[in-house]
Amino acid sequence: MKWSQFFSTSIGKKLLVGATGFFLCTFLIVHLAGNFSLMKDDGGQAFNLYADFMGHNLLIQALAWGLKAVIVIHAFLAIQLTIRNQKARPVKYAVKPGNKTSSWFSRQMAIMGSILLIFIVIHLANFWWKMHYGGIPTSVYDGKKVGDLYTVVWKAFGKVELVALYVVGMIALAFHLVHGFKSSMQTFGFNHPKYNGMINFIGLWIFGILIPALFALIPVYIYFNKI
Ligand code: HEM
Repeated sequence: MKWSQFFSTSIGKKLLVGATGFFLCTFLIVHLAGNFSLMKDDGGQAFNLYADFMGHNLLIQALAWGLKAVIVIHAFLAIQLTIRNQKARPVKYAVKPGNKTSSWFSRQMAIMGSILLIFIVIHLANFWWKMHYGGIPTSVYDGKKVGDLYTVVWKAFGKVELVALYVVGMIALAFHLVHGFKSSMQTFGFNHPKYNGMINFIGLWIFGILIPALFALIPVYIYFNKI
């Protein structure tokens, strides 16, 4: 079987969804670490210099475009798989009680994934688009002129509607990652009593609770500390 044929099968698509999902999980850790400097009380210096470096480093820019492609591939294949699964099971799970949990999870993944996709589009329009194409104010640090993305973000999170949208987005992220992380591990064959406890722990506590909670903390912190 050719690779192109393999990736048009359900198992091939599932593998790609798992691999792209895993890549997106690693991006979230780096993104969270970088965003934490938004809460540093230095008038935005650390965050703006970090954003300027990320925005001008060629390798990171290539990765950033790859990242957007990965998000599109992940969402597209996941939607295709969901539609395929629904078509393959027209009688729903009422006749298959054993499948109730997995059907609930896949429906939940589709709903939370869709909310996340809407969140990401609004998020990119608010910050990434403004930073690269919208013309934002600038600041000068040690003679170096850089975009003042810090002020853009702080102003944006002064609005309670946007903070609420981020909190809802992070709840969707939490649900999506609890099942998504475990599912991607299982797709890669990590389904053994020796590792399952650790995989469930990381899926629930790190990706399902800690990471979404810390992401949600940033807009909430900014809202309550706005100038
Ligand atoms: C809630 C806290 C978050 C804050 C404050 C935040 C902030 C930012 C900012 C300021 C940028 C623009 C950086 C630049 O273009 O140089 C950005 C880009 C981005 N964010 Fe977030 N983000 C948050 C959460 C998330 C989450 C949860 C996701 C994914 C589910 C996400 C996905 C992205 C993506 C894909 C980009 C584009 C990256 C790039 O092109 O380099 N962000 N974020």
